[in-house]
Amino acid sequence: MITTDLKPVIETLNNDDVVGIPTETVYGLAGNAYKESTVEKIFNLKKRPSFNPLIVHIASPEFLTQVATDIPSNAHLLAEAFWPGPLTLVLNKKNQIPDRVTAGKPTVAVRVPNHPLTLELLSKLAFPLAAPSANPFGFISPTKAAHVQGYFKEGLKFVLEGGPCLRGLESTIVGFDGNQPVLYRHGALVLEEIEKVVGKISVKTKNDESPNAPGMLSRHYAPKTATLLSKNPVKTLSKHSNKKVGLLSFQKIELSNGKIHQEVLSTNGNLEEAAKNLYAALHRLDQRDLDLIIAPYFPDYGLGKTMNDRLQRAIQK
Ligand code: TXA
Ligand code: MG
Repeated sequence: MITTDLKPVIETLNNDDVVGIPTETVYGLAGNAYKESTVEKIFNLKKRPSFNPLIVHIASPEFLTQVATDIPSNAHLLAEAFWPGPLTLVLNKKNQIPDRVTAGKPTVAVRVPNHPLTLELLSKLAFPLAAPSANPFGFISPTKAAHVQGYFKEGLKFVLEGGPCLRGLESTIVGFDGNQPVLYRHGALVLEEIEKVVGKISVKTKNDESPNAPGMLSRHYAPKTATLLSKNPVKTLSKHSNKKVGLLSFQKIELSNGKIHQEVLSTNGNLEEAAKNLYAALHRLDQRDLDLIIAPYFPDYGLGKTMNDRLQRAIQK
């Protein structure tokens, strides 16, 4: 059930159960990060492969030393600059974090989410929250409480209602090679902003044989409907005139066929606005029983890079 009341949510979490929580990026499927059996419930509910580790959400930067150790100075700089916010840092873990959370890795992914209700929730708990995005493995991330409820009709007692997510894309993930930051996943915090703080950083978001962040795995963030990326959607559309097609557009495209359903992400071509709307638009398109979704390429900078990354993963098989 969807609720704005923290009390039953706190009670549920204290009873080692799992709840849906809002963040500024996407909704999370949260449970006590210190408790192995609760973390197990998250993996089971999400049908997530056990090799794919979870992000630990903490109430404030001061809490970082409770979960991580040997913290490089650049990590402190980034935390200071961007927390609370959509940046996840991968650091050496403390023993208190069970191996189940980190999929056996010696590192833990941590962030302070920027959502008032979830920050209040975290401040009232005696433990941090392990939370992956609140979608079944391989599905589109949820940016509304109703998306979470739709995904987990049974099995989830409460989803905390925090409104639509203001960023709409997952956090950016940064790890470290010594003190040198390495980008593992493009996300809601753009690379350009990170580089203003720590200088040029290397990017390792390719799907290597052993991915550092399995958010890199293919068929992530994917709609059920077949999806094509196109530099010229009108031309692509004309090639599929015999099909029931939905169009995802950055800005509105004038179409001669008025029957085509078009989801416009930003009327004035604003990347932040498009990012915020992207997943909800994909959810809506996915529910229209279409043969095909045609999606655009975004400009290759800032949030455009993150959206291109997500859509490319959505079309991979
Ligand atoms: O915005 C977000 O990050 C959302 C909200 C709920 O905070 N969470 C999210 O979680 O996107 P999830 O589980 O869908 O993605 C977490 C990513 C995965 O790709 C995982 O592999 C990576 O973080 N990750 C977690 N621990 C890691 C570690 N120790 N080393 C490298 N990558 C890690
Ligand atoms: Mg996810």
